[in-house]
Amino acid sequence: MARLFAKLGYNLAICARRGERLEQLKVDLLQSYPNIRVEYKILDVSDYESIFKVFDEFAADFGHLDRIVVNAGVGDSRRIGKGRFKINRRTAEINFISALAQCEAAMKIFREQNAGHLVVISSMSAMRGLPGHMTTYGAAKAGIAHLAEGIRADMLLTKLPIKVTTIYPGYIRTEINKDAKPLPFEVDADTGTKAIVAAIESGAEEACVPSLPWSIVGQAMKHLPLQIVSK
Ligand SMILES: NC(=O)c1ccc[n+]([C@@H]2O[C@H](COP(=O)([O-])OP(=O)(O)OC[C@H]3O[C@@H](n4cnc5c(N)ncnc54)[C@H](OP(=O)(O)O)[C@@H]3O)[C@@H](O)[C@H]2O)c1
Repeated sequence: MARLFAKLGYNLAICARRGERLEQLKVDLLQSYPNIRVEYKILDVSDYESIFKVFDEFAADFGHLDRIVVNAGVGDSRRIGKGRFKINRRTAEINFISALAQCEAAMKIFREQNAGHLVVISSMSAMRGLPGHMTTYGAAKAGIAHLAEGIRADMLLTKLPIKVTTIYPGYIRTEINKDAKPLPFEVDADTGTKAIVAAIESGAEEACVPSLPWSIVGQAMKHLPLQIVSK
């Protein structure tokens, strides 16, 4: 996403835990796009207080943040009732509570600016309750999709000019699923990221990506009997 947004001419404020990869990304981006500004900060989103600090520092440094993408996520979840609460709790915390903290920090900045675009990366797994290793992951992703919709409703009610986009990606081959067997309708990272960035740029409220087949699969998931969806 950073590479595609850089290509579109955006200045970028990026955060994650692995500093050496952020530094390499910054070097690569500035080599290809010397006219943009790229800054990074090391941030572990499980450290909630740091989220507010880092976002506020970026806002002060750049003077204005047009858009914040709540993207950090982990894919580790386990069948419920099998003694793996620790793993499921961590997934719920990173994918929901940390995302909530990022939405809080982002919306505080956007309210002060009276402008902004909040983007939340949910998942197709949010469409229905899913079995096995997808249960906690999907529930957390459904949680942030509802959170984003609630914030969007709040913006409608209060007439604030802040956009909220929820992205529901299908299977995209990245580090999160690098050891998985071939996944249904999977696309490579380039294809998936292009679809995500196009959906974000369109300003859509919600988008399943890539739109084909996932917008159709999404409708099917919502309406088919659970026994079929669970397969
Ligand atoms: N790939 C898919 O098929 C798919 C489908 C639906 C939704 N998604 C969602 O898309 C988002 C991006 O995933 P991806 O596929 O790009 O996986 P990824 O390659 O594993 O990327 C995850 C990103 O999150 C960051 N991150 C993870 N834990 C973090 C933490 N505690 N603090 C700060 N940053 C953290 C990672 O950077 P560091 O490790 O350096 O911190 C990395 O940049 C996730 O929310 C995922 O759930 C992915």
